[in-house]
Amino acid sequence: MKKKIIVGNWKMSPATPEEAKSIFLKIKRSASRVRGVSVVICPSDVHLMALAKLSSKGNVRVGVQNVFWEDKGSFTGQISPAQAWNAGARYALVGHSEKRKLGETSADAAKKLFAVIRDGMTGIICVGEDTRDKDGNFFALLKDQLLASLAHISRHMLLHSTIVAYEPVWEIGRSDLQAMKSRDVHETAIFIRKVINDAFGPDIARALPILYGGSVSPENAHSIVYEGGVDGLLVGRQSLEPQAFSVIIKSMHPRHARK
Ligand code: 13P
Repeated sequence: MKKKIIVGNWKMSPATPEEAKSIFLKIKRSASRVRGVSVVICPSDVHLMALAKLSSKGNVRVGVQNVFWEDKGSFTGQISPAQAWNAGARYALVGHSEKRKLGETSADAAKKLFAVIRDGMTGIICVGEDTRDKDGNFFALLKDQLLASLAHISRHMLLHSTIVAYEPVWEIGRSDLQAMKSRDVHETAIFIRKVINDAFGPDIARALPILYGGSVSPENAHSIVYEGGVDGLLVGRQSLEPQAFSVIIKSMHPRHARK
């Protein structure tokens, strides 16, 4: 069975290094008691090095939330993939909807994804529709976004260093009761695998990890993964709550008892 993958996206929180370290250490402690789950925390860049140091001798890895596609040069405010790697990041989120909202295109995301994988990290490429229409036109948009974002990626890169995170934009930041139904997650995961199958072949479609993100909570994590047929979760707010996040990690056990 494939390992489940739980990624925490801390976005622009917390405000101090002390808080970041304290939350991280609590997560590390609970993750050390769980088998069969890869845990990744993507803090903001200012906390990256400190948390990467804490991550040695444990099973929680650290990732970066964004990088630029160039490896060096005069690009004020940007972080290169090599800098992220040297700071300890082993994963990189690419094309998150909150970056896309600020103007990042799939063409930009494609260059970033290539650069992070070239420099040794696993790229987590985020895709997702803004809204859903009854006629299912969002599927075409999702397909375009996915294929455009993977434009520079080889089969080898896809097979070994790429994760797709499906995050419907309209599902981010809601209450867990409003989170996407498992059957809709399932339908979309099948669609994503079909797009990958048609473009890259069945071996890659089978192997590629797909995560779901958007209002994940301890209450819905298990069913989204096991009924939704995805390989893990990309978690926002609840990844800053060590207790809740620990339940989400534990709930990746196939026989996790639901309340
Ligand atoms: P929430 O889990 O807070 O809805 O955020 C989802 C997200 O954007 C993770 O990248």
